[in-house]
Amino acid sequence: MSNENIIDLRSDTVTKPTPAMREAMAAAEVGDDVHGEDPTVLRLEAMAAGLMGKEAAVFVASGTMGNLTCLLAHCERGDEAIVGSEAHVLHYEAGGVPALASVQLRTVPNDSHGMLDVVAIEETIRGKNVHFPRTAVICVENTHNRCGGGVLTVEEMAQVGSVAREYGIRVHLDGARIFNAAIALGVPAAKLTEHVDSVTFCFSKGLAAPVGSIVCGTEEFVAKARRARKMVGGGMRQVGVIAAPAIVALETMIDRLAEDHENAKLLAEGLARLPGLRIDPERVQSNILAVDVHDGQTFQRKLRDAGVLTSAFGPRRIRFVTHYGVTRDDIEDALERVRHTIEEAA
Ligand SMILES: Cc1ncc(COP(=O)(O)O)c(C=O)c1O
Repeated sequence: MSNENIIDLRSDTVTKPTPAMREAMAAAEVGDDVHGEDPTVLRLEAMAAGLMGKEAAVFVASGTMGNLTCLLAHCERGDEAIVGSEAHVLHYEAGGVPALASVQLRTVPNDSHGMLDVVAIEETIRGKNVHFPRTAVICVENTHNRCGGGVLTVEEMAQVGSVAREYGIRVHLDGARIFNAAIALGVPAAKLTEHVDSVTFCFSKGLAAPVGSIVCGTEEFVAKARRARKMVGGGMRQVGVIAAPAIVALETMIDRLAEDHENAKLLAEGLARLPGLRIDPERVQSNILAVDVHDGQTFQRKLRDAGVLTSAFGPRRIRFVTHYGVTRDDIEDALERVRHTIEEAA
């Protein structure tokens, strides 16, 4: 099957930079960013901090590096971080936090849209006792990848913030797709970060920039995160060339995420009508869909043969992600191909 005929719904990380991004890369003013001399990076960091309602920001290579640098900055060796049982940092970051930050991850169950039960958080926070690790930080994820792109509301973010404040613990937000959450709720992203001490978000997913994420927080916190970034080899030099498309992403790609959400809904409604697939379209809140099916591997293989690419959350749960580069027509086409695949297998 030729590449043009493939509908790639594996992830929003497959997005390609827009023509405006490529122009911005070519024209970017650059300097040595480790010395704080790259004007394009400085501009991006100021923009991102402003959008998150935080004092400062530091540009990092990836979402994984964003989470790792934040946990290095929040914690001492031997500390504990509370994370959701389905958290990205727990499942998909190569065990980097325990391996490189010497921080133990302790889980609290995520509910179906990714929220953590605040009573469970409270019960998990360690008391003062020489035997115990110190609970340093609570990590939340919004939107929530493994929980089918679930969106935590402003109120839910406030609930986590309030329990953390009560116990003198920090909150870190893995906001890889924070703008998807903001668009889904119709609120500025800064409303979702009011109660967190640090947030990292990605330019390289639905915002379609080729690379990069950013960490935001107070001046003091960001200085620590900057040092942690250097420690893990993330101090980059003339990176204005990659900061420039990230600026274009912030200027032009946020509002259009609504289109990805509409397409995800349309896809979910269509899939829900097909035999053997289980998905509740009412629960689809952003650009990620989790579909339950009896034999995921065979289903994925047959879809691939039909030119529809997906990824898997597990042997019986398949992920579809809508993004820039997938149109409404593509979604209708994909649905037709899925229907045909199921009919052929029957
Ligand atoms: C919720 C979440 N956090 C963090 C990351 C890590 O981002 P990266 O792939 O840039 O390391 C991802 C990547 O998909 C993600 O979905």
